[in-house]
Amino acid sequence: MEIKFSRRLFLKKLSELTKTLGATIVFIPILSCEKDWIIPPTLKGEFIELDLTNEKSDILNLPVLNFIGSGVTKQFNQVNYGIPLIIVRTKKENKDDDFKCFSGMCTHDQCFGKDKVRAPLKIETISSNIKVCRVVCTCHGSEFDLLDGGKVLKGPAEKPLKEFKCEFNPQKNTLKIYY
Ligand code: FES
Repeated sequence: MEIKFSRRLFLKKLSELTKTLGATIVFIPILSCEKDWIIPPTLKGEFIELDLTNEKSDILNLPVLNFIGSGVTKQFNQVNYGIPLIIVRTKKENKDDDFKCFSGMCTHDQCFGKDKVRAPLKIETISSNIKVCRVVCTCHGSEFDLLDGGKVLKGPAEKPLKEFKCEFNPQKNTLKIYY
């Protein structure tokens, strides 16, 4: 009886252990996926075309991308895992490289909010001798300069924001974003 009980106990323990191991085995790939998830994918050779005329300020209903340093965040399900992109005007020369497009994901990689998407970055333009258009991560305060390739202005992040290739068409006032 005691042996039976021990065997049952043993099987119960084994079952619990299997469950734990199972959970561990499942958990490790999830962690690895999560690590992969934060690395933006390589370009698939596809693009989306955005009509910039429609990108207006919510408050004034005026176009918002008319001056250097102005920007919007846009979310596209098929791009950057649905994590919003930051589109910013870095020049006003009516050329195809007037705009830059960055991932809105902070590269500090330490803050996961709802659905593991990091806290949104907020756009802020600062004018001084050196013009910067900085976005600030609301998590630990890292700052990035959108006028200078998304480079880090202030840590703890060390890497610049991931940049997406984009191409402005001044005639059509559209922006192609490649992904
Ligand atoms: Fe952005 Fe930490 S996650 S500063």
